Order: sequence, then C-alpha cells, then structure tokens
Amino acid sequence: MKPTKWGIIGPGKIAQVFAHDLKQLNSPQKVQAVLGHTKKTTECFATEFDVPQVFMELDEFLDKADIDIVYVATPHTLHYEQVLACLQRKIPVLCEKPMTINADQCSALIAASQTYRTFLMEGMWIRFLPSIRQVMELVKNGRIGKITSIKAAMCYKAPQDSDSRYFDPSLGGGSLLDLGIYPIFLSMLLLGKPDTVKAVGTLSGEGVDEDCSILFHYKEGQRAILESSLTSDTEQPAEITGEKGMIRIFNPWFERPAGIELHLYDEGRVVYPCNWPGHGLQFETQEVLDCIENKKIESEWHPHQFSLNLITVLDEIRSQVRVTYELYE
Ligand SMILES: NC(=O)c1ccc[n+]([C@@H]2O[C@H](COP(=O)([O-])OP(=O)(O)OC[C@H]3O[C@@H](n4cnc5c(N)ncnc54)[C@H](OP(=O)(O)O)[C@@H]3O)[C@@H](O)[C@H]2O)c1
Repeated sequence: MKPTKWGIIGPGKIAQVFAHDLKQLNSPQKVQAVLGHTKKTTECFATEFDVPQVFMELDEFLDKADIDIVYVATPHTLHYEQVLACLQRKIPVLCEKPMTINADQCSALIAASQTYRTFLMEGMWIRFLPSIRQVMELVKNGRIGKITSIKAAMCYKAPQDSDSRYFDPSLGGGSLLDLGIYPIFLSMLLLGKPDTVKAVGTLSGEGVDEDCSILFHYKEGQRAILESSLTSDTEQPAEITGEKGMIRIFNPWFERPAGIELHLYDEGRVVYPCNWPGHGLQFETQEVLDCIENKKIESEWHPHQFSLNLITVLDEIRSQVRVTYELYE
C-alpha cells in the first residue's frame, strides 16, 4: 500500500505532535514535504521526521512538493492565505484551529472548498477524541437528561514573552482564539449556537485578550460559563450538568483526561477511564483520510458550517472584549 504523502506548512510545536501521531494510524503515512519560515528550524524538523522536500516559499512548495494533502499549522493569521492557495490547486487541507481569524475569511475558504470541490476541515481535534465521543454518547442516550449548564475553562500560563505569537496581534494572539475556542466548541457541540453571548476580558499591553470570561445563554434557559487565560493555569474539569445528573471530564478535559465521571443523582457515580496511544491527533487525521477516500469535501463530524458558527461566535466575543486584528479587518 502506497503511503499518503503529507505536506506540512508551519513546522512548529503542534506540527511536531502531528507528525508523531501519524505513526499511530493503521495505514502508511509519510511527511513528504515541509514549508517553514526559519530555515534552521525547518531543516531540523525535516531531519527529525525524515522529510525529503524542504521549502521556504509557498508557491514553490505548492508547485513542486509531491503531496496528496496539506496540514496547515502556522499561526492563525496565516491560515487564510495558505489554505486558499492549496484549495485553488485542488490540494485537500486539514487546517489547525481556528480555521481563520474571522468569519469573513472562513466563509471565503468554505466557498473555495466548494468551488474547487476540494476537502477542507478545521483541525478541531478534540471533536474526534474517544473521550468527547463518549460524552456525546452519554448525552445522546439521555443519561443526564436535558442539559441545564456547562462549565469549562482552558487556561495556560504562557511565558510572558512579547515575541511570542500568544501576545502578538499580527499573529492573531490572545487567549480566546488559542484556548477559549475549546470550551466554546464544547458548549456549541452540546447546546448549539448560543442565543445570547456576554463576555469580558483583560487586554495585554499589545491589545490582545490575556483572559476572557464568557457567558452563553440559550432560549430554553440553558447556560454555559466559560473561561480562557494566558496568565494563569487551571486544573478545572469540564462539567456538563443535566436534570438527572452530571458528567465531569477530568483535567485535562481538552486532551487525554484522567477519566470521565458520570454522576447520576439517583444511582451514584461511575468513572470511565480514558486511554489511547499518542497525543490523539490521529483520530482527526483518520477522519480526514476517510473523507478524502470517500470523495467528500467536508466532514460530517466537524462540518464547514460548524467552523463558521464557531468563528462567528468568536468574532462576537472579540468585539465585546474589544480585540481587533487591524491588519486583517
Ligand atoms: N490542535 C492543537 O492542540 C493545537 C495546539 C497548539 C496550536 N494549535 C494551532 O496550531 C497553530 C500553530 O500553533 P503552534 O503552537 O504550533 O505554533 P508555533 O509553535 O509558533 O509554530 C508555528 C510554525 O509556523 C511557522 N511559520 C510562521 N510563519 C510561517 C510561514 N509564513 N510559512 C510557513 N511557516 C511559518 C513558524 O516558524 P518560525 O517559528 O520560524 O516563525 C513555526 O514553525 C495555531 O493556529 C494554533 O492555534 C493547535
């Protein structure tokens, strides 16, 4: 069986995890080409993952790389241009979250995927984790009854380095797009698009949100209390409360959690352990491979419309906390 040949754009932290997790797939996978920004780190990545083709220019990469599919793992603000260029050449794309930095860009990429009949998916990898699938199953089977509230946070004390992409507005910095996107995703996965959104945040000297506190309200009375921060850590589980009980996804709920607790008010508690090899990016990657094999241009598990709804809500929160990416808006 011939390997699937991947091109990776942005050989940084998550691309390394991705390249490691490719080894977890049952079918053969090869990182064939890499496009980087700094020559030395790009070459180091190529050596570590045995990548034959190394590029420093997007057009040259797209013209000369012998690839079946591209994984885009650059800072957020670069996604739009890089993904569009791939789609225009009919190269399927898995693009890291957030797909783009605003809804207009996301709509344009979805339109390009449709125009060129080429697969596109946002790398919302937690959608595909066995832990999140199990939570969805418990909810779908009515175990906790109708959901009444969700509490989730993703907080990470990032190095206070003004050169870091986390605080750089020109790279889409801020806690919301990097971290807050996960609790917001979880809430939207379980309850859909909120009817009312309220958010407050603290801005850094660079003008990006160091932290964000977000409240969603839904017409039927449900609510979600969500948080992101680049200035503190949290060990908070994600809690999904329903009329008959609650589900607690232990810390770190957005990766491989220590377990999932189902607490039914009338029956007591049971804990389901969570375990899988690797980091867990292999599950979204398998979905991408299956979609491409079946000639789909989007995933039913994480469809284009979900990515658009997600970034639309993120846009609304960003406008409330007054973060603007001036170069792009
Ligand atoms: N799924 C997840 O769990 C997860 C986790 C973390 C991040 N992410 C997402 O993945 C993206 C990258 O995050 P990261 O933490 O991996 O960032 P990172 O470590 O800063 O890596 C970004 C990489 O992109 C490279 N790059 C910058 N400009 C480029 C260009 N024009 N062409 C090609 N490469 C370029 C950088 O090179 P230089 O360093 O030389 O500039 C670096 O190698 C973000 O959108 C983030 O939201 C996802």
